[in-house]
Amino acid sequence: AQKKASVTINKVEDAPTISKHIYGHFAEHLGRCIYGGFFVGDTSSIPNVDGVRKDVIDALKELKVPNLRWPGGCFADTYHWKDGIGPKEDRPTIVNTWWGGVTEDNSFGTHDFLNLCEVLDAEPYLAANVGSGTVKEFADWLQYVNHIGPSPMADLRKKYGRETPWGVKYWGVGNEMWGCGGNMTPEYYANLYRKYATFMTSWDNEQHLFRIASGANVDDYHWTEVLMRDIPKHLIEGVALHSYSYVEWDEKGSSVNFDEAQYFSTMQTALRMEELVTKHTAIMDKYDPKGEIALVVDEWGGWYNVMEGTNPGFLYQQNTMRDAMIAGTTLNTFNNHSDRVRIANLAQTVNVLQAVILTEDEKMLLTPTYYVMKMYNVHQDATLLPLQLISPEYVFNGESLPAVSASASTKDGLTHISLVNIDAAKEVEVTINVESLNVKSFTAEVLTSSKLQDYNSFEKATNITPKEFKDFKLKKGSLTITLPPFSVVVLEGK
Ligand code: AHR
Repeated sequence: AQKKASVTINKVEDAPTISKHIYGHFAEHLGRCIYGGFFVGDTSSIPNVDGVRKDVIDALKELKVPNLRWPGGCFADTYHWKDGIGPKEDRPTIVNTWWGGVTEDNSFGTHDFLNLCEVLDAEPYLAANVGSGTVKEFADWLQYVNHIGPSPMADLRKKYGRETPWGVKYWGVGNEMWGCGGNMTPEYYANLYRKYATFMTSWDNEQHLFRIASGANVDDYHWTEVLMRDIPKHLIEGVALHSYSYVEWDEKGSSVNFDEAQYFSTMQTALRMEELVTKHTAIMDKYDPKGEIALVVDEWGGWYNVMEGTNPGFLYQQNTMRDAMIAGTTLNTFNNHSDRVRIANLAQTVNVLQAVILTEDEKMLLTPTYYVMKMYNVHQDATLLPLQLISPEYVFNGESLPAVSASASTKDGLTHISLVNIDAAKEVEVTINVESLNVKSFTAEVLTSSKLQDYNSFEKATNITPKEFKDFKLKKGSLTITLPPFSVVVLEGK
């Protein structure tokens, strides 16, 4: 018998706005993300804008990237920003101790990153060094990028060619302080955070800083509890959370050659995001009932073994329909929790983990995850339409997961509904009650393929792309749509 799901969409008075920043990205000095991914240098034969690949810029503009987090990740707590300013030939080198032990020349630094964000029309999100840095180094960086001057750091910035400050709003106070950021206890870090936040001057009356505390690893609820309890409200705007999807942490398996059991476990960890966000939010609600502090999921995505023959420290993996399933379901979770989740960053933009873009010399391709992010960008800054979903189960080896995930929003007279069916073999018929929406007609796009393991290769770069989808009917306020196995569909109604 055909599997059936039902969805009821409601228009409510005080529904939250889905912050566009939920659709953020992350670019670390890791493997070929910055060097060789974004940045090829201005003497490269690959077309570039100040050393950044033009094809990458164009693809990210199309995606409407709202914010970009940099320079890490674990790298952030080893990074000394002053090494990355001034004449490139004078810059010291740094050994990337976390990622492959490679030596880099600091040729991509603060100016390069912040100018890139301007070109992309994306808000920069700087993750500053707390683990191996100092309060002064942090405060100086803020002054360098945000102070109009005169001041020692603004004068230095001007000397190096940038007259006006960039006005950086989003600041991470360290990264994974429970691990690579310094192996701290939450109590110790909460105190340290208070000290750092105290010396974070905004410098600009218009520009209020958005300070983000390094957050919990997955279900470490104690971490969130301590930060919320011990950090005074006037010193914090966001608390982070990191959670990746994988088969097994110690045996991650191939990014392309996986079986259904491995797919199922990956989806178990991906769908856990719903529970994580709900439980971390419940803790935040206790200390911040008005919801003023944001939950910032600034690292999420699929993590597998690296592609054969590549540096294990470079985290280079392919991206299949499995990744499209992770992206579609996770973004639905973020949309549905947009009252508390107001920033998120997929890890990572180019050539690392669940990348939206892969490059090989002059070649570039867009992954299935890219297309999911693109199909979903209609939700950016739209009003959430809360929904009730009754989903059939996707059963594998006696275990089960909800097969369907959904979210909906409205903006500028348009309604968008995003649906995912994660079942590896069975289609699902979804009946959606849209009576309250006053929509006359729908159009739709689908992302799917013949095999879950399919991906876009450099030889067949457009193997998987979104297609027009017509397998639905609207009759008297009821929309019936048949979702193919492992597919993402976004409907637009007007
Ligand atoms: O995204 C890769 C790494 O994962 C980041 O550097 C770190 O923060 C996390 O553990």
